[in-house]
Amino acid sequence: MRSGLIIGLVASVLGLLSGQPNQPYLRNQGTATQLIVEGKPFLVLGGELGNSSATDMNYLQPIWPTLKSMNLNTVLVPVFWELIEPTEGIFDFSLLDSTISEARKQDLKLILLWFGSWKNSMSSHAPAWIKKNQERFPRAKDDKGCSQEILTPFSENNLKADVQAFEKLMQHLKVFDQKQQTVLMVQVENEVGMLPSARDYCPLANEKFGQNVPTELINYLQKNRAKLVPEFLKIWEQNGFKSNGAWEEIFGKGTHTDELFMAWYFSKFTNAVAAAGKKIYPLPMFVNAALNRTGREPGNYPSAGPLPHLMDIWKAAGTAIDFFSPDFYNPDFKHWNDLYTRQDNPLFIPEHRFDKTVGAKAAYAIGHYGGLGFAPFSIESTEEPLNEPLGKMYGLLAQMSPLIAQQQGKGTMDAVLFDKDDTEKVLTMGDFVLTCRHDYTLGWSPNAKNETWESGGAVIVQTDDSEYFVAGTGVVITLQPLDRNKIAGILSDEEGQFSEGKWTPGRKLNGDQTHQGRHVRLPMGEYAIQRFELYIYE
Ligand code: DGJ
Repeated sequence: MRSGLIIGLVASVLGLLSGQPNQPYLRNQGTATQLIVEGKPFLVLGGELGNSSATDMNYLQPIWPTLKSMNLNTVLVPVFWELIEPTEGIFDFSLLDSTISEARKQDLKLILLWFGSWKNSMSSHAPAWIKKNQERFPRAKDDKGCSQEILTPFSENNLKADVQAFEKLMQHLKVFDQKQQTVLMVQVENEVGMLPSARDYCPLANEKFGQNVPTELINYLQKNRAKLVPEFLKIWEQNGFKSNGAWEEIFGKGTHTDELFMAWYFSKFTNAVAAAGKKIYPLPMFVNAALNRTGREPGNYPSAGPLPHLMDIWKAAGTAIDFFSPDFYNPDFKHWNDLYTRQDNPLFIPEHRFDKTVGAKAAYAIGHYGGLGFAPFSIESTEEPLNEPLGKMYGLLAQMSPLIAQQQGKGTMDAVLFDKDDTEKVLTMGDFVLTCRHDYTLGWSPNAKNETWESGGAVIVQTDDSEYFVAGTGVVITLQPLDRNKIAGILSDEEGQFSEGKWTPGRKLNGDQTHQGRHVRLPMGEYAIQRFELYIYE
């Protein structure tokens, strides 16, 4: 431990001398936010382990090759409060250290998920000494006054206990990992949310609910009125943009106000935990949300988490949380991501159901939204890692990473994502219009007759006036100059590979593969990178 401390100190001093943060950090490039690791942008090609897989090293051991074979560069792993602090004030980081050491051997990075006070709304990972002392660590109550296995965010004791444990975790990480920087970011808590009522009815909560809405929140709303998300602005507007009064006076009576109230206090709590940790070791920190199903009332879904309609409340409560992330077990991928990327919130998807669509979606999250990365949940659950669309797409994205890093946020990169209900997207890039379609729209594949279509997706990057790279599968692109009186021709189209940013061309595709110059095509199921060059004729 002593030598670890010295290494940590030396690393800090070197970092200070270089003028760069000496740990992974976030940096803006144009409209994008990039994760910088050891001085370079890092694209997270990730996967989240099933909840229990990293609680036993013997169980985890055979999983590493599966992860590697899908071209992951990062694994999202929980850190359980109950396991690091089984006895109050006595910490045990041996499991975490083994996981980090093993990840290093595998040349993988980690993102840690702090399963502290809340995990999927509940407090199932609080240590026994917390769970068994309800008087000292009070619980949330539902509208009938029934205690839940949910620590109330209104208790100072609850906050203090979580903060102390999280501080120890960050202290330990700083010593154990600052030099190697295996751990890139930390998710604070997991899917915070109130259930089964829209708000907590414990005495501490009731007291706060009767009090005036904090001036800190009102000030934020007034200052940022022009950019508040419309669904929230509407609520405030309907009540006459009041600036003084209790929660129901300002936002009206109803479960929507219960949810706003809870969001404020959940965010205050989580921000305080994150801020305390960052003071010690300022890794980027984020929170994730279980998406609400459309039409459901607060209380019928984990309410008050960092959901898009509550983004302003979560932002107003503090700045220690760098971004909010959606967990996808619902449809409408594009819709939710559009909501999450408002107000410059960087997109990072820490969970998506691990299905056959995730390869194409990873490309879209990174290429279209300039996302920091992507991670399906229960990543080890595949029987056939080598056949996973995710692994194949990650293989391409890994090759493209230097180019993506260079282009992110500059308006020269985009992506497409298709299925049977969403088959076409027109992109204007430079002097050309690229009409991108699902490969099956050609009608050439027998699978085009199927009821559902595999997801097609690709990242497209413009590297020069008439030069483009496209990486993905299941996409066909026809081309036109911006000047509609002229015609675009394909000068060359070649398959190839990137290695450390250097392009090595392979097959030339100007025959059948481009339909004799009529389109650029990535056939469904074939994963490839193509470089194509266009010209204009009349
Ligand atoms: C979302 C949670 O964040 C995960 O920890 C896990 O419980 C999954 N749901 C299960 O589907």
